[in-house]
Amino acid sequence: MTLQQQARQAQRAAYAPYSHFKVGCAVETADGEIYTGCNVENASYGATLCAERVAITKAVSDGHRKFRRIAVATDAPNPAPPCGQCRQVMAEFCDPDVEVILCGANEIESSHSFGELLPFPFNQSSLL
Ligand code: THU
Repeated sequence: MTLQQQARQAQRAAYAPYSHFKVGCAVETADGEIYTGCNVENASYGATLCAERVAITKAVSDGHRKFRRIAVATDAPNPAPPCGQCRQVMAEFCDPDVEVILCGANEIESSHSFGELLPFPFNQSSLL
């Protein structure tokens, strides 16, 4: 299965009773392992977790701290990019050359470098 297909499969588990916007994500670690995640909403809306942060957190909690590629699947006609909070979490673990593949409805896809999505990140090197 491609990384995009794994993101699409993860989307099926999305818990999105409030927005009805289901998101799936698959991340490939530096050593080639795949972790997936979906959005998990909450009646207290601010407690909602995005699919990307679920997938990244699962991988990091298993000891992976570097990623090669990230795929995000939604049913939006224009493939939806990661939100700002997810980009900030990606900035912790992704170099600018990490590929971010966005998958929308009708097999529409686009590919971007992480550096393109977040060109001037606040990260570890920004701290004293
Ligand atoms: N969502 C994600 O899972 N990833 C993003 O990058 C953007 C937003 C989710 C959060 C919420 O459950 C729904 O999409 C609508 O915002």
